[in-house]
Amino acid sequence: MRELEVRLKNSSYRIIVENYLMDKLSFYINDVYKNKRVFILTDDVVAKYYLDKAIKSLSDKYVVDYVIIPHGENSKVLERYAYVCEELLKKDIRRNELLIALGGGVIGDLCGFVAATLYRGIPYVGIPTSLLSQMDSSIGGKTGIDFYNRKNILGAFKQPSMVLIDPNTLKTLDNREFNNGMGELIKHGAIGNKKLLDMLKDKPQIDEDIIVESLFVKKSVVEIDEFDLKERMLLNFGHTFGHAIELKYGYKHGEAVAIGMLMAIKMGEDLNVTPKECYDVIFNILKLYELPTDEYNYKDYLKDVFYDKKNIAGTINFIFLNKLGNAIIYKMTEEEVKRLEGKNNSN
Ligand code: GLY
Repeated sequence: MRELEVRLKNSSYRIIVENYLMDKLSFYINDVYKNKRVFILTDDVVAKYYLDKAIKSLSDKYVVDYVIIPHGENSKVLERYAYVCEELLKKDIRRNELLIALGGGVIGDLCGFVAATLYRGIPYVGIPTSLLSQMDSSIGGKTGIDFYNRKNILGAFKQPSMVLIDPNTLKTLDNREFNNGMGELIKHGAIGNKKLLDMLKDKPQIDEDIIVESLFVKKSVVEIDEFDLKERMLLNFGHTFGHAIELKYGYKHGEAVAIGMLMAIKMGEDLNVTPKECYDVIFNILKLYELPTDEYNYKDYLKDVFYDKKNIAGTINFIFLNKLGNAIIYKMTEEEVKRLEGKNNSN
C-alpha cells in the first residue's frame, strides 16, 4: 500500500494506492465517512466488472445504493446530470450522505459535479478505474460537464474526500485504453519527475510505486494552485497542440498529448528553451508504451492555437520543458508567434 496526501488551504485528502483495495473499500472510506448510506455512480461497462465487488466490499459497514448510466463521453451532458440528480433525489439522498464515483473520467467529472451542486455540496469519494482517470482527473477537484459544444464549460472545483486507486483495475483495460493513460503518466515524468522518466525507460509494469511517482507531480502542482490560476497550467504540457489534433485525427486524449508533447519539445528547441536531449528521451518512452509519435509540424498549428487560446492581452502561455523533469510557463505575444511561424527550422 502507498499513499499520498493532497494538502490544500481548506481541505486535505488522502490518495490510497493499493492492489486489491477494491475488496476493502469500507475499511478506507470509514476514515472519512461515518453515516449509514452510500450511493455509487457508475456506468454500464464498469458496473459489469466492479459494481458487485464494490457493493460487497462496502456492505459490512454501509447500506449501498447505486445509479448506472451509459458509458462514454456522451454522458457528460446536462440531461445525464439531471437524470443522476433525479435518481438520487428519488432515493432520498441527504446532504450529509456520500456519493462514490466508480469509473473513468466521465463518471468522475459528472459525479464530482453532482456532488458540488446537489444541496450546494455533498461529500464524494473517487474510485477511478481507468489509468487516465487515476493519473489525471480523479485528483485536483476539477468537475464538470460539456455544454453548448464546449468541454467542461459547466463545472466547479470540488475536492473529493478521498481517492482510492486499485492498480488491479488496469487489467480490464484494453491495450489502447491503457496506453491512453500512459500519455498523462509520461507527461508527469516530463514536467516534474526525472526519476519517473528513468524508471519508465525499462518499461516496467505499472505498479503502486510508478503510480505514486506520477501522482506526486499532479498533487504538488494542485497544492500550489488549486484553482488553476497559474502553476496548474504546467499540467497542460502537450495539451495545447494535443487538443489541436485530437478531434481532427481521431486520437484518444493521451495519444494526442503524446504527439503534442513532441510538438511542444520541437517548439521549445526552436526558442532555445528546451535542450536537445529531451526529444529522444520522451520519444523513446512513448514508443515503448506504443503511443503514437507521428510527426506534425507545430508551425502548422500555431495560428489555430493562438486564436483559440489567446487571452485579453493578446498573449498565449505555452508550456515547455527547460530540462528533463521540469517545465516552465512561457508567455508569447502574437508578433512573437508570427515570427516563429515564418522562421525555417528542422521540424
Ligand atoms: N488536467 C489538468 C488539471 O487538472 O489541471
